[in-house]
Amino acid sequence: MSSQPKELVPGLAGVPAAESAISYIDGQAGILEYRGYRIEEVAENSNFEEVAWLLMHGELPTAEELASFRERLAGARECPAGLRAALRALPTSAHPMHALQMGIAALASFEEPVTFGSAEDFERAWIRTVAMTPVIVAEFERHRRGLEPLDSDPSLNTAANFLWLLNGEKPAAIAEKTLDVALILHADHTMNASTFAARVVYGTNAGPYDSISAAVGALHGPLHGGANERVLAALESIGDLSNVRPWAEDKFENKGKIMGFGHRVYSVKDPRSYALQALSKELFAELGTTPLYEVALALEDIVTERLGDKGIYPNVDFFSGIVYRKLGIPTDQFTPIFAIARVSGWLAHLREQMNDNKLFRPGQIYVGHRERSWPK
Ligand code: SDX
Repeated sequence: MSSQPKELVPGLAGVPAAESAISYIDGQAGILEYRGYRIEEVAENSNFEEVAWLLMHGELPTAEELASFRERLAGARECPAGLRAALRALPTSAHPMHALQMGIAALASFEEPVTFGSAEDFERAWIRTVAMTPVIVAEFERHRRGLEPLDSDPSLNTAANFLWLLNGEKPAAIAEKTLDVALILHADHTMNASTFAARVVYGTNAGPYDSISAAVGALHGPLHGGANERVLAALESIGDLSNVRPWAEDKFENKGKIMGFGHRVYSVKDPRSYALQALSKELFAELGTTPLYEVALALEDIVTERLGDKGIYPNVDFFSGIVYRKLGIPTDQFTPIFAIARVSGWLAHLREQMNDNKLFRPGQIYVGHRERSWPK
């Protein structure tokens, strides 16, 4: 039995839970790398499917490998009638993340069993889950809009097919590219809460669908992936530039958490938020800007002026909502989009763990009663 650390580490901050070669963060220098490639270069040169392959296999795919991967993904988007019925049995008031979590868990019931340790079974589940996550999100969105189901278009990549399913029309090139880059930026981020949740469940030799469903639950939390929808709600409640400072001062006075700021690892501005900012400028150049962007910039200045010395800067969730809103995506679909991207990272971590799996079972420091006598 290894010696147990005696002091509590709240939130296991900085405690290594595994060795991994998938992504790397330097929180002080603001560096994120996917398999050694800087996120700025990956966002500039790659596409979501190529990134999903890179995260899983560790190397960029050849042209043939990428073409065949795209084909396999396109061929794995068929939504089982029973799953469609289950999603459409949900109340339209359900949160899309609950629909997604249910959908992923239910998908397992329509698939061949996955034997733990079987590379072939895992690969089948990887393809199916990366392909079906956007389909499940879109299926529920069409249900709650009162629209009939729509089948995927095998000629479209993940980003374009998702927008096709959502809107029933092929997306403009700028919309497809913007969403594709946003998916790249959200694909992996070392041992974040939802990746850790996936690894803990998988560590029990549960299957990939159980593990990804658990990760979706963790991502939904406002302190994690759920922040992006709350950032937009905050920007909309601020409304215009004259309200930014009073709104921020109120948060400072009440020590309120400002969504989209701060990070457990970064003590500087998240490199992904720079990339999302650049992306939003390209989008606004083509589709027109939004007053919310100016409000966001003003909020960033005020918050970093006051909290920058505590290492509180914008994180990935701060600008993503403005981009998605410009693409006409409903606010409560922002976190499901985060999941559509991150499912590629979660599965890469599970595949890595499969080769050297150990049940996660941390200790505790007991602070309760001991050896009490039962009342007579
Ligand atoms: C993601 O881990 C990942 O990699 C996650 C992620 C990924 O790609 O997977 O990057 C995605 O989840 C980004 C984070 C999205 N969440 C938010 O935007 C929610 C708002 N942020 C905070 O809740 C907070 O910054 C956390 C949860 C992200 C990190 O907080 P920690 O590391 O647990 O630090 P803490 O809450 O203990 O705060 C330390 C101090 C406190 O002040 P003091 O009590 O010491 O005086 O910093 C303050 C906090 O009050 N603080 C904030 C703040 N975040 C921290 N104050 C105001 N606003 C904030 N956002």
